[in-house]
Amino acid sequence: MKSLCKLTVEIAGLGSHLPERVLSNADLEQMVDTSDGWITKRTGIRERRIAAETEATSDLAVVAARNALAEAGLSPANVEAIIVTTCTPDYLFPATACLVQTALGADNALPYDLEAACCGFLFGLAQGGALVVAGVTENALVIGAETLSRFTDYTDRRSCILFGDAAGAAVLTRSTGTGEIIFCEMGGDGSRQELLMIPGGGSRRPPTHETVDNADHFMKLQGREVFRCAVSKLGELLVRIPQETGISLDDIKLIIPHQSNVRIIRSICERAGIPEEKAYVNIDRVGNTSAASIPIAMDEAVQKGVLQRGDLVLLLAFGGGITWGSMLLRY
Ligand code: ACO
Repeated sequence: MKSLCKLTVEIAGLGSHLPERVLSNADLEQMVDTSDGWITKRTGIRERRIAAETEATSDLAVVAARNALAEAGLSPANVEAIIVTTCTPDYLFPATACLVQTALGADNALPYDLEAACCGFLFGLAQGGALVVAGVTENALVIGAETLSRFTDYTDRRSCILFGDAAGAAVLTRSTGTGEIIFCEMGGDGSRQELLMIPGGGSRRPPTHETVDNADHFMKLQGREVFRCAVSKLGELLVRIPQETGISLDDIKLIIPHQSNVRIIRSICERAGIPEEKAYVNIDRVGNTSAASIPIAMDEAVQKGVLQRGDLVLLLAFGGGITWGSMLLRY
């Protein structure tokens, strides 16, 4: 499904935030039957960040948003839309975007949440871009923020080694320079919902003593099957980029894949004949941060000078739902 192509919007500012506390593989060795060697070899993760007890998703989101607004030179009062993409909101409602709005003092903004697990930020960029291009708003602040540690079962070694907490944000405005969204493809397959889910706590299985005893409020992951689907779907998305845009993968400066497993990233590069160095990797330091993964990697790439204005950058995402997406941008 090609959902949209060519949006004359640019990323005017990026920002990110990682909580201070580090959870290393050595720490996890003390918690479950695992080893630094296994985790590093099978996932590429060495450590991840964990939010303080007093920090919720909106707290991380606000810091990332302030950084992005400062870079864009936009004051909170002039923000017209806030889209928070998260699968770990502060509350079932109100939307985390409303909490971010008030913390920022962005009183003139339309705040709402978008939930698409690890694809959240990519879907949010497409939606924020569409708002701006349609003239609904002048700009959009798109945030990917997660506190996955709150929904991780630290007795389950198959999943607890993967996830970390973080937030990343982007300010979208109408293009004034060369920046644009050149191509975007997004999709999903709800029939594979069971691959990755938090079964308890919603309206289907509201909280009861039984759901708590069953640990139903924690993430359940069929890791091997998610891995297989991710490699296959991300591979298909990559092949379609040159077909749909006429732009060769060689001309793309940087690929920023959702950071879920370094073996997934290596595998899609190998299949597409892309040098591994073209894919940005920071999973070793942050783990899988779901919707925050792409914006924090992108912000880091810009800070390091790996990604510069005018460069072509390809975002790739795959996650719960299941959902997937690709977005080719000129930064
Ligand atoms: N430490 C040591 N051994 C382990 C661990 C661990 N932490 N976890 C699993 N094992 C063992 C298993 O018990 C199994 O042992 P067995 O063969 O004796 O039964 C063996 O290792 C292999 O297990 P697999 O599950 O097949 O391991 P795999 O190589 O597939 O790696 C992993 C598991 C890392 C979860 C991988 O499948 C993966 O990364 N999947 C993708 C998950 C993901 O990224 N999801 C992204 C979406 S997140 C979102 O949308 C919010």
